Amino acid sequence: MAETITIIDDRTGKQVTVPLTDGSFPSTALRELDADLRVYDPAYLSTAACKSAITYLDGDAGILRYRGYPIEQLAEKSTFLEVAYLLLNGDLPTAAELQQWTYDVTHHTYIHENMRKRFVDGFHYDAHPMGMFVSAAAALGTFYPDAKEIFDKKNLDRQILRLVAKMPTLAAMCYRFSTGLPFVLPNNSLTYSENFLNMMFKIGDDSHVNPVLAKAMDVLFILHADHEQNCGTTAMRVVASSNADPYSATAAAASALYGPLHGGANEAVVRMLEEIKTLDNVPAFIQSVKDGNGKLMGFGHRVYKNYDPRAKIIKKTAYDVFEVTGKNPLLDVALKLEEVALQDEYFVKRKLYPNVDFYSGLIYQALGFPVDMFTVLFAIPRTAGWLAHFSELLLDKEQKISRPRQVYTGSAERDYVPMVQRA
Ligand code: ACO
Repeated sequence: MAETITIIDDRTGKQVTVPLTDGSFPSTALRELDADLRVYDPAYLSTAACKSAITYLDGDAGILRYRGYPIEQLAEKSTFLEVAYLLLNGDLPTAAELQQWTYDVTHHTYIHENMRKRFVDGFHYDAHPMGMFVSAAAALGTFYPDAKEIFDKKNLDRQILRLVAKMPTLAAMCYRFSTGLPFVLPNNSLTYSENFLNMMFKIGDDSHVNPVLAKAMDVLFILHADHEQNCGTTAMRVVASSNADPYSATAAAASALYGPLHGGANEAVVRMLEEIKTLDNVPAFIQSVKDGNGKLMGFGHRVYKNYDPRAKIIKKTAYDVFEVTGKNPLLDVALKLEEVALQDEYFVKRKLYPNVDFYSGLIYQALGFPVDMFTVLFAIPRTAGWLAHFSELLLDKEQKISRPRQVYTGSAERDYVPMVQRA
């Protein structure tokens, strides 16, 4: 028997019975009871705003899959470009498809000279790279007048290719500007991650990138490529629902990611670890969090109420990186924090576990990235996920322009008061 749910309006005695599909029922059921009835759901705690076939996430079991493939298998066996293809197209590529996709991405990495000379050079010398990245992503769209033709599939695919290909170039450009270093052009003989590290750190003629570090970068890109309906992806979908171009929508998603409760958390974690500094200070810090003085950054998640599977992979990747770079001195503080928190009733009771950001910052730091680049490193691979959602939304016949309702709590109608009569 199909599952149903019956909702009764106690004010009128009216009732409606609707099918439950995948644990959800359509909100139109409420309208049948009363057209003015609203579900009050700030932060969408119980609202499924779309149907999606991209990423599966079970927070209680600590499961994350892209298009059905477990994140652990992808991190171990795949590459970021293959994962980006998977997210965007629904299936893993054949050898020929991957070769073509890799070729196409590699040959779309250049950015118009005006972006650097006139746009990026216009920033203040100490501009935050993420602020630069967000604005540059939107500005990039102005170089492609066809960006707005989003219902022409071939054209949209070209914009998606451009965005995936150019994000590392844009990110490195912002970094090199902020450090006063000359811009490094993309190198077509390198892989996606090698090319990014090369554009970031190349000094002189040597384009050699350590393969262990490039592999770690690629794994981090895979882990950050998508995460279903998080804050940034929701921003992407909301903006896409107005049929804005993918560059503007990507800039909006990146803006949402920028915040310290979201992608900005990895930056906040390292700043927190630097503040704690020594193992002796860990118990006092944990106590101050429990007393309500700030949060343990990198802990807790809206959906994961179990260990974030990405955090496990990142912790392992951290050791691979430290073999090459030497151990990040903050690692011991992080390990101690995790150990103490996971035994503390406050964190256990609230199901607070390390999330993706807890260890990623330590790797980024060991790779040589300054703290304020961390969220940019998150935005580069997430662009593929955002664009997969952008495309999915456009094809979804049930979607309309996003437009939630509100519960008005302001004044009732009142007459305008002339200035002289105001207290
Ligand atoms: N440290 C201390 N207490 C915490 C933490 C934390 N990191 N996270 C949640 N709590 C507490 C809350 O104070 C609350 O306690 P209460 O029940 O006594 O009021 C309880 O745990 C539930 O927390 P909520 O804020 O209701 O959980 P929510 O799902 O809204 O928030 C979030 C999730 C934003 C990730 C939160 O855990 C947090 O701020 N963590 C720190 C920032 C962080 O690491 N963000 C990265 C998330 S991953 C990502 O976006 C890529």
